[in-house]
Amino acid sequence: MELKFELLNGLFFSKHNLDLDHSKILQEVKDSRYKPKKTSHNSRPHFKDVWPGHVFYEDTNLYDETYLTLKNAVTKVVDGIFGEDMLQQIEIWGHIIPHKDQTTVHAHRDVFNDAPGLSWAYYPHAPKKAGGITFISNVNGFDHKVPVYPKTGDLLIFSNTLLHYTPRNDSGEERVSCSGNLKITNKLKNILYEDMEYKNPYWFYNGRC
Ligand SMILES: [Fe+2]
Repeated sequence: MELKFELLNGLFFSKHNLDLDHSKILQEVKDSRYKPKKTSHNSRPHFKDVWPGHVFYEDTNLYDETYLTLKNAVTKVVDGIFGEDMLQQIEIWGHIIPHKDQTTVHAHRDVFNDAPGLSWAYYPHAPKKAGGITFISNVNGFDHKVPVYPKTGDLLIFSNTLLHYTPRNDSGEERVSCSGNLKITNKLKNILYEDMEYKNPYWFYNGRC
């Protein structure tokens, strides 16, 4: 008997590897927190201006050079998936979790824009027992948790509506990653309106909504 399955819905994230000077970026992210500089972008406030219970407290506003290096590298990957000018980088920041700390459950949804976009996380190092990242999706009302343990240089791309958290960092050192949010452009929106057969990779990330 031939079995025929048709996909009802599906949610995916994609995994890539960035060819960058990871140790240089690692140091720059730490420096941006403890020796902040004036920048032309303002993706995040300085942590001293943030209530410690907010996830922004772990974030750091990257130096312009780090911001641009990451923007160019991630845009190259995103353009390779979607084509040019389909998604726009709107913010990029560093994320530092001290030893024994963790990040609470959150998503990167843009509350000013209804159309789900994408988010990414890049790992300039991968200390043992640093906690990785756990994604939480929902299947017929049940939470489904997927733990991911990135390697140095890994780039994860996922829906900005996808809940996730960072389990406890038990590595004995600060755990550093960088993240960004991507907004869908009108060019991509117009393609999606016409995409009745769900051919665009967008649907892999954001589901057949
Ligand atoms: Fe996050």
